[in-house]
Amino acid sequence: MQNPSSPSDSAPSPPSFPSSIFNFRDPKSILFVILAFSLISLLLILSLLSSSSSPSHPTPDPFLFPAHRMVFDETAPSDPSIAYLISGSRGDVGRLLRLLFATYHPRNHYLLHLDPSAPQSDRVRLALSVQSNPVFRAAQNVDVMGKADFAYFKGSSPVSFTLHGASILLRLSVKWNWFISLSVDDYPLVTQDDLLHILSFLPKDVNFVNHSSYIGWKESRKLRPIIVDPGLYLSEGTEMFFATQKREYPQAYRLFTGSSFSILSRRFLEFCILGEDNLPRILLMYFANTPKSLSSYFPTVLCNSGRFSRTIINQNLLYNSLDRRLDEPRALNSSDFHDMINSGAAFGRKFQPDDSVLDLIDKQVLGRSPESVLPGGWCLGDPGNETCSTWGDANILRPGPASRRLEKAIVKLLSNGTYRNYQCKFE
Ligand SMILES: *[C@@H]1O[C@H](CO)[C@@H](O)[C@H](O)[C@H]1NC(C)=O
Ligand SMILES: *[C@@H]1O[C@H](CO)[C@@H](O)[C@H](O)[C@H]1NC(C)=O
Ligand SMILES: *[C@@H]1O[C@H](CO)[C@@H](O)[C@H](O)[C@H]1NC(C)=O
Ligand SMILES: *[C@@H]1O[C@H](CO)[C@@H](O)[C@H](O)[C@H]1NC(C)=O
Repeated sequence: MQNPSSPSDSAPSPPSFPSSIFNFRDPKSILFVILAFSLISLLLILSLLSSSSSPSHPTPDPFLFPAHRMVFDETAPSDPSIAYLISGSRGDVGRLLRLLFATYHPRNHYLLHLDPSAPQSDRVRLALSVQSNPVFRAAQNVDVMGKADFAYFKGSSPVSFTLHGASILLRLSVKWNWFISLSVDDYPLVTQDDLLHILSFLPKDVNFVNHSSYIGWKESRKLRPIIVDPGLYLSEGTEMFFATQKREYPQAYRLFTGSSFSILSRRFLEFCILGEDNLPRILLMYFANTPKSLSSYFPTVLCNSGRFSRTIINQNLLYNSLDRRLDEPRALNSSDFHDMINSGAAFGRKFQPDDSVLDLIDKQVLGRSPESVLPGGWCLGDPGNETCSTWGDANILRPGPASRRLEKAIVKLLSNGTYRNYQCKFE
């Protein structure tokens, strides 16, 4: 059982640099850290001096998480929360912050990551931006990974990156129920109040994962080649190593392919990471030399596990549109707005940096002003860009019209039990 009420489990302060994940080897980085820490201390002192009303808290702000709710939590049907891993690359600090703002809710937990192509100064800049935001400081729920993980999109290292991010999030917070990994190409199509509200009606062990056991020529191009991902053994990204031979399909388990985007339950990730069952580890080793294994790893573990195969729903709640020529998602723009919104999806992929459709989503769906966090039931300020500078109980959700679209999509999925026929079906 989880105990959603213990704020003492959050990371030690200052919040943006949990010591366990901020590792440095070379003296230059140490200098950076010293600089960053002195800047942060300066910021902390300044904020303490300038506002006696919202000082920096070593534990989350009691206005956001009132003590009386903790008693209620034991009996309340469910107050779900989500852990987000948000990653970007060189030059992506602005996009990463925008995505953080657009998916923000004090009840969730956020781990931000910049890959090795971004200079360390970007990581420090990101951490400082997080640290200087009064809402993030009050809720203590945004962390920045101090050390970059290599994730080579075409190889298998994204699996190791995703598991690493999830295991840090498992350690940072005992509260969350679902895990979502986003990149800066993604954007939400519902508010967090909408999403949390809908999730509160679902069993906490549901996994939203596209999957299929059909292996045609397209899938076989992902499953039969033997590769070695440069991210697993080289310090710089070069071309992937392809063996000349191809392998047979395994007989000890069934392979499933799917999408690199999924919404995974905490229990399932604990199963993958704690590894008391050997299946997740065996498949991890198998997929280590499979191209694009992130889209196959989680569906294959889920469907081959007796414990989890009945928790999978064959829909990841992501809207994307394939470019048939390249067989890759194409960039979405304002012409896609209506289809995207009416699909009832929770997220969209992929978007160009600062495309005007993002402003449209902010304005019409999220009700978010530029440079401000996504408003929700916890924001008590006047409507406008200062709505969330005054806050109240984070457990109060105010779902809007997008929640009805999401609800309709999920009800359609679950209504007459047909989803059972699409669970891990062998074709
Ligand atoms: C996921 O599956 C749903 C339904 O099976 C499909 O409509 C959607 O396009 C798929 N999404 C991806 C990203 O493959
Ligand atoms: C959006 O993209 C599609 C396909 O790439 C293109 O045909 C359309 O003209 C674009 N619309 C806008 C408003 O840029
Ligand atoms: C609030 O937003 C408006 C435009 O949306 C802008 O003109 C104004 O300067 C903003 N105010 C503050 C205090 O940021
Ligand atoms: C179940 O729902 C699906 C999709 O809405 C529909 O196509 C199908 O006819 C329904 N089946 C029954 C038995 O109601």
